[in-house]
Amino acid sequence: LKRIAVLTSGGDAPGMNAAIRAVVRSGIYYNLEVFGVYRGYAGLIQGDITPLNEGAVGDIIHRGGTFLYSARCPEFLEEAGQRKAVTELRKHQIDGLVVIGGDGTFRGAQRLTDLGFPTIGIPGTIDNDIPGTDFTIGFDTAINTVIEAIDRIRDTASSHERTYVVEVMGRDAGDIALWSGLADGAESILIPEVSFRMEEMIARLKRGYERGKKHSIILVAEGVGRGMEIGDRIKEETGFETRVTVLGHVQRGGKPTALDRVLASRMGAKAVELLIAGEHDKMVAIRNNELIGIDFDQAFEQDHQPDLSMYELAGILSI
Ligand code: F6P
Repeated sequence: LKRIAVLTSGGDAPGMNAAIRAVVRSGIYYNLEVFGVYRGYAGLIQGDITPLNEGAVGDIIHRGGTFLYSARCPEFLEEAGQRKAVTELRKHQIDGLVVIGGDGTFRGAQRLTDLGFPTIGIPGTIDNDIPGTDFTIGFDTAINTVIEAIDRIRDTASSHERTYVVEVMGRDAGDIALWSGLADGAESILIPEVSFRMEEMIARLKRGYERGKKHSIILVAEGVGRGMEIGDRIKEETGFETRVTVLGHVQRGGKPTALDRVLASRMGAKAVELLIAGEHDKMVAIRNNELIGIDFDQAFEQDHQPDLSMYELAGILSI
């Protein structure tokens, strides 16, 4: 192994820059030449590949986003696009690739491995929805952003004695809603993995008001439905003054937390070590604070499941 490349793909996540830095610097430590691919698989197909030295990744560990840019690339879903990507990698004499992203990114990585190109994945997505790893890069920063926003919403909710519905990201996964809801004492948490009954949620809300609660926070993962519709329903059924906030892409930006920077640094170095050891078709994962490489297939064998004991706990604590 002499030359490796790194790219970021799919939705960005705080900590991706720290992961790129770790790939580049540990690659150099192991006497490899490291290249950066701009705009994910789209840039790979176009051969938008550039050498990165130690200095190229200086002053980025603390920055959100990804300096390599990210993109979703329909052309890469076709075999012709995948073959073009491998041709570009070979043209640059690159013999190993690290991809940082979510499940779509890893399915792309598997196609490259099928075509004989060694690829290792690093889970980077705020959703924390990758099976096989306890955490993904960006999740900790996102939930800290969410709880800061909810703290602010609580101030005004309390002054006006209102009910607030807060919609958070998580296309198919409830981790952001669950963790931030537990951290912020939300009255109800709606996540796609647990079927919810509007009547029950409303009954719970009314019980809270009867025992003297002056305001409430209902946290909704976007995978469940639109916060606006849920807010309208609450207003109709209870008559409570209700407001809705959709946090949106605010959750994807910002300085990565210490936890995300450390996770990204460890995962970046581990990805390079796996490539050097001749591994491919694997994803770096963290389980019980240990870094391991697991087969992509094994990672996707089952769906990601949030920790439902936390869901129950949130219900117990927010009576
Ligand atoms: O997968 C990360 C994520 O932020 C999801 O939570 C969200 O549904 C989606 O990306 C938004 O994608 P886009 O940036 O394309 O709007």
